Amino acid sequence: MHPLEKKQTVVTIKKKKKTGEKISAVTSYDHPTAKIASEAGIDLILVGDSLGMVLQGYRNTLNVTVEEMIYHTRMVTSAEPLSLVVADMPFGSYHTSAEQAAANAIRFVKEGGAEAVKLEGGGKRFKAVEAIINCEIPVLGHLGLTPQSIHALGGFKAQGTLKKTADEMVSDAIELEKRGVFAVVLESIPVELGKRITERIAIPTIGIGAGKYCDGQILVFHDLVGFTNLYPPKFVRKYADTYSTMLEALDNYIKDIHAGNFPGDKESYRLKNNEGKSLKN
Ligand code: KIV
Repeated sequence: MHPLEKKQTVVTIKKKKKTGEKISAVTSYDHPTAKIASEAGIDLILVGDSLGMVLQGYRNTLNVTVEEMIYHTRMVTSAEPLSLVVADMPFGSYHTSAEQAAANAIRFVKEGGAEAVKLEGGGKRFKAVEAIINCEIPVLGHLGLTPQSIHALGGFKAQGTLKKTADEMVSDAIELEKRGVFAVVLESIPVELGKRITERIAIPTIGIGAGKYCDGQILVFHDLVGFTNLYPPKFVRKYADTYSTMLEALDNYIKDIHAGNFPGDKESYRLKNNEGKSLKN
């Protein structure tokens, strides 16, 4: 039996807060990782704009375009995961007007097959959030370290560490809930603030570097399976070292080629006679 039992939706995700069942979430940018995530029983897949750093090798997420995000969202939804698929709206796709935000969110649903979208920020983004929700598209909020604001924030730094900024974040979370977001990602904030927001709002909080009291947790797929040998952020737990596994596989492949051991008989086609029978050597 599939661990998820049925398709996850914003309704099933919201219900988990009431039943106290923790929510599991990961990023996925393509068909094979979406298939694995769903098969493992991950509740929510985020097609994150972190793909700008993880796949494209940029220093931050700011270069990622709507076209690229839709392309990756399609790869994920083509795997038909039972997990809820949320697409990240990239920098510049919802910042200039509510109309722009709604029009781009509609593209994610129509062209990418997304079941919800995520956008970063509090007060300045309320109009965009409302416009998208008015188009019947569920929205996942994102507060704390919002990577699309790194220039304004002065870099990738923990947020809400002072009483004043913590209070502001609590009030942003309350306002996002009022505007109808179905859940909020909390990134790189103190454990105490993660707890405070989680207790204060009725919708789920999904933490990444926000401590254990959040209603759910999200990690970047490539970080949690150890796909690279780069030093991961403090909040990452590596559950596997696939970088070493892949390196070893490639090393053995090279050795086999050099030694003439690959391909062998099993990996080779043989000539057949006109009746289709294999010819003896
Ligand atoms: O882009 C992303 O992957 C994200 C998660 C880290 C929450 O926003």
